[in-house]
Amino acid sequence: MTKSYWIKDLSLSGLGRKKIYWAEQEMPILTSIRERFSVEKPLKNLKIGACLHITKETAVLVRTLREAGAEVYLCASNPLSTQDDVAAALVDEGFHVFGWRGMSQREYYECIGYVLSSQPNITIDDGADLVSSIHKLYYNTLADEISLIKNITGELSGREILKNIMGGSEETTTGVYRLKSLAREGKLLYPIIAVNDALSKSLFDNPIGTGQSAIDGVIRATNTLIAGKDVVVVGFGRVGSGIASRCRGLGARVTIVEVDPINALRAAMDGFRVESMLTASKHGEIFITATGNINVIRREHFQVMKDGVILANAGHFDVEICKKDLEELSKMVEKTSDHITTYVMEDGRRLHLLGDGRLVNLACAEGHPSSVMDMSFSLQALSAEYIVKNFKNLPREVIPVPREIDLLVARLKLKSMGLELEEMTEEQKRYLESWYLGT
Ligand code: NAD
Ligand code: ADE
Repeated sequence: MTKSYWIKDLSLSGLGRKKIYWAEQEMPILTSIRERFSVEKPLKNLKIGACLHITKETAVLVRTLREAGAEVYLCASNPLSTQDDVAAALVDEGFHVFGWRGMSQREYYECIGYVLSSQPNITIDDGADLVSSIHKLYYNTLADEISLIKNITGELSGREILKNIMGGSEETTTGVYRLKSLAREGKLLYPIIAVNDALSKSLFDNPIGTGQSAIDGVIRATNTLIAGKDVVVVGFGRVGSGIASRCRGLGARVTIVEVDPINALRAAMDGFRVESMLTASKHGEIFITATGNINVIRREHFQVMKDGVILANAGHFDVEICKKDLEELSKMVEKTSDHITTYVMEDGRRLHLLGDGRLVNLACAEGHPSSVMDMSFSLQALSAEYIVKNFKNLPREVIPVPREIDLLVARLKLKSMGLELEEMTEEQKRYLESWYLGT
């Protein structure tokens, strides 16, 4: 390993520090966990390899992990989501940070290589690129990204990297899908906690965090008026349902495209119009994808879209809106602003893609508000502690966040908001547990 950090510009650290301070004010649970960690040191002498969006909220998490005794190696989980001033502030504080906004695919994987070179004891991932790289190295998989990583890790084998690992955690739906696929094939090499699936994460971060921040991304990139707009949201799962309801709240007319009959029905009974992608493509003015799936908007859809439409993605990878088809259909491709690429079709129609089709809330705005990340990242910190205490007994599977941690995070959040929780009486507890009393 030859670098202890690799970022854009260390001189940006002053502004980054102020942003982290701002985030901290909105993250009371995580800072209270940090206070306990600073006394108990549950991660003492451990190395944590994290592949996360490098934001001011992530900075609060890594400060918490360090206070717990860990040495943190952090790389970007997306080439366009790093806040360079925050990365600089972290390096200034002695963290090993690898990533900057606008890095290439090659640099992205080299940065993962630097984190793996540290031979972490715990991995924290957002999208499973770190964990899948470890698995590809271990199984000697031939893949372009693996030769890039090997350029950095050198002689270090997948087996040697694995040797130190106690467990890991995963932040997002797409990452959990990928890990479950590894587990289904019997190839998952160590236990990984699905932080995404905790209720205090997926009922808040996914719909409410992305609901607000994805729209924030569209507005910051375009300053377009949402009121009165014909908005098509593709996917009505945890993220899409949040975006749809927030768009409606801002006065948009919202159509949902879904493949799952239950979620399509939920959307219909929530009062949304439900259509196929082709039908919606003919009238939509703003399209936001949130499926975690590939090529959900593609050639046949672009061909019937109106002039001037806005295309944005909130899903984890930049695969939901098919950029290859957009390019092939265009007579000209123009960068019309920092965040907008305009594809001019053969017939002159202009289709505007935001943030290169990467997650619009992080590529064009600042990601979720700190207050929501407070819950997600408290789960991450408590999961790391749980792994250290329990790794010898954990199965090599994708495992849920323990219920008591999930409830604790919800309780602490309520308390920090000054809200009261009703308590059941002993009689009520007995009643709910009994079969005896009826009509
Ligand atoms: P989810 O599984 O709850 O919802 C996805 C929905 O998309 C499902 O209802 C599914 O039926 C639907 N879908 C799948 N293929 C489709 C298609 N071709 N057309 C229409 N609908 C389709 O997942 P989620 O938690 O909502 O996450 C969605 C994506 O957002 C994932 O990639 C996740 O990692 C990502 N995510 C992003 C952020 C962010 O900050 N931008 C935050 C959380 C999650
Ligand atoms: N994912 C979504 N929003 C985020 C944020 N603000 N920081 C880190 N990861 C995020």
